[in-house]
Amino acid sequence: MKAPPITLRLFKAQVAELVDALASGASEQLARGGSSPLLGTSFYNDNNEQESRNGQPRLRGFFFNFLTLILATAKREGDNPLFEIAQEIALMFDRLQAVPPDPILGIIAAHAADPNPRKIDLGIGVYKDESGNTPVLKCVKKAEQILDSTETSKTYLGPPGVKGFNSAMTELMFGKDSAVLKADRVRTIQTPGGTGALRVGADLIKEAMPDARVWASDPTWANHYALFPAAGLELNHYPYFDRETSALRFDDMMSGLQDKGPGDVVLFHACCHNPCGVSPDPEQWEAVTDLTAQRGFLPMVDMAYMGFERGIDEDALSVRLFAEKCPEVLIASSCSKNFAVYRERVGAISVVCESSQKASDVVTVINSLTRKNYSMPPTHGTGIIDIILHSDELTGLWVSEVAGMRNRINELRKTLADKIAAAGIEKDFSFLQRQSGMFSFLGLSVEQVRRLREEFSIYTVDSARVNVASFNEGNMDYFVDALKIVL
Ligand SMILES: Cc1ncc(COP(=O)(O)O)c(C=O)c1O
Repeated sequence: MKAPPITLRLFKAQVAELVDALASGASEQLARGGSSPLLGTSFYNDNNEQESRNGQPRLRGFFFNFLTLILATAKREGDNPLFEIAQEIALMFDRLQAVPPDPILGIIAAHAADPNPRKIDLGIGVYKDESGNTPVLKCVKKAEQILDSTETSKTYLGPPGVKGFNSAMTELMFGKDSAVLKADRVRTIQTPGGTGALRVGADLIKEAMPDARVWASDPTWANHYALFPAAGLELNHYPYFDRETSALRFDDMMSGLQDKGPGDVVLFHACCHNPCGVSPDPEQWEAVTDLTAQRGFLPMVDMAYMGFERGIDEDALSVRLFAEKCPEVLIASSCSKNFAVYRERVGAISVVCESSQKASDVVTVINSLTRKNYSMPPTHGTGIIDIILHSDELTGLWVSEVAGMRNRINELRKTLADKIAAAGIEKDFSFLQRQSGMFSFLGLSVEQVRRLREEFSIYTVDSARVNVASFNEGNMDYFVDALKIVL
C-alpha cells in the first residue's frame, strides 16, 4: 500500500528522531550504513520512494540520505561544524516553545464561550456604549465616505504617510500657537497605531543611545513591559500607584525621578493611566515637568486616551508643558480610542528637538527605521482623520462624540461607586469617581476574581483591572450583588 504523503510535521519529527538516536550512540551504526535498533529501520534506501512504518509515512530520497549522512558522521561534542549545521537545518522551529496566550485574549475567549446570559466581560480595553457595542463614530463614517469618493489611487505614499494627518496631529498635540511649532522644532510621523509609535520611539532611542535606560510607572500598560526590551532597551520602574489608597504616590514618584538624568528616558502616561486610572493633576504636572527640565532626562509621553479624561486640550497639558520646558521630547500618540478606529491602526510619533535642523535630521532617522521595519505605513485610517481634522464641521462633531464617551465613562464611575456604597459594601470604592478613563483596579484578590468568574460569569484579568465602559444599566446591579458576595 502506498504511504500517505509526508507532512512537514512528520518530516521534522523524523529528523528529531535521528538527532535523538545520535545522542544515544546510534551514529556509528548509521555511519556504517547499518540499521539502528533505535530507529527501527535502515536509513539507506536508494530508491526515492517513501515507505511506511506503523502506518506512518517515512521520508526517503537524496535529501534525507544526505542529512542522515551528515548527522551520522558528525559528533555531538567536539568541533565538527557539520553537526551544528545539520542541527540547525533540522531544528529551526523545534526550538520555539508555544507562548501562553495574552490573559486578555483568554478572557475574551472564555467570555464568548460562556452560555450565561448575564455574563459580563470587564477585561477587554475598548470603549463600549450603553448597548455594549463599540460603534463607528459618526464623524468617521462621514469622513470615510468623503475619502471613498475622492481617493484616486492606493499607491504608496512614502514612509511619512499622510502629511495632512501628521501636521494635524502636531497641532492637536501641541496646540496651534505652540512655541515649538513656531520655532519649527517638532516633527510628527504617522505609525501603525500607538503601539507602532511606541516601537518606533523605542527604536529611535536605541539608535541614539544604545545604553539608555527607560523608566516606566509602576504599574504600566502590559505591552510596555514587552515592547521596550524587544527593542533592546532596559526597562525599569518608578513609584506611581498606591494599592492601599488607590491614589497617586506623588511624593515617591518625585523622589524616584530625582536621580534620573541624561541617558535616562522616563515614560509618562499623558492621561487616563492604563491600568490604574490615576494621573497627576495640573499642579503636579507643573512639578513633574520642572523636575524633568532640571534633571535633563528625556521625557517620553504615551498619549492613548486624549479627550477621555478632562477634554482634548486639557489632556495635552503634560505634552505642552514638556515641550515648553525641555529641549527634547518624544510623544507616542494613538487614535484608536478617541476616534474609535482601533483596527485601522492609527498613531503617530512626534519628536521635539532643540533646533529645526535637528528635527529634520531626526525625521530621516525615523524614516530609515520604519523603512526596514514595515516600509510604508497604512493610510486608510490616517486619511479619515486627516479629513476630520481639516473640516470645522467634522472636527466639531468629533469633539462632541469624544465628550459623549468621556461623560458616559464618568457617569458610570459615579453610578458604580454610589451603587456599591448603597449596597452596604464596607470596602471603600469611592476612588472609582476620583479616577479617570476606562480603567481602574478593583483591589480584589485572585481568589475573588476567580469566584466572580466561576460563580457569576463576570470576567476580569487576575489583577482585577476592569474596563468601566463595560458597565451599563442592565448589568451594574448584577455586578454589585456579585461583588458583595465575593468580598
Ligand atoms: C497606555 C496605552 N498605550 C498605547 C496603547 C496602544 O494603542 P493602539 O496600538 O491600539 O493604538 C494602548 C492601548 O490599549 C494603551 O492603553
